[in-house]
Amino acid sequence: MKVTVSRKAYFNAAHRLYIKQWSEEKNLNIFGKCSNPNFHGHNYEIIVHVKGKVDELTGIVIDLKYLKQIIKHEIEDLLDHKNLNLEIKYFKEVVPTAENICIFIWNTLRKKIDNNKHLSVTLFETPRNFVKYSGN
Ligand code: NI
Repeated sequence: MKVTVSRKAYFNAAHRLYIKQWSEEKNLNIFGKCSNPNFHGHNYEIIVHVKGKVDELTGIVIDLKYLKQIIKHEIEDLLDHKNLNLEIKYFKEVVPTAENICIFIWNTLRKKIDNNKHLSVTLFETPRNFVKYSGN
């Protein structure tokens, strides 16, 4: 039997959405307020979902202490209170939209979770706007 285990985490970060080659006006048209040249912050919330077989002996899918630890070390410690555009190497080349941040988090955590478990990540940029990535 397979069960999905989920854990929530939070980080605050600043970003600016823009394409260098575009004019200010075009950036503003496409990205709206998120293109403000002086950056702005979001209180991001993530939910990490791990789906896998319930171990017959222990009754667990994944050790939640381990899940908590990797989210803290790999994601929160890296992204919390950062300017994503300026301080996170990955986002020097990639626009830090909710979609791309979610993919980044998924790729980072995927390396730390057994391949026999299915991983998805939900990222809330605001309480009403959120994205989900499951790896394809
Ligand atoms: Ni924004």
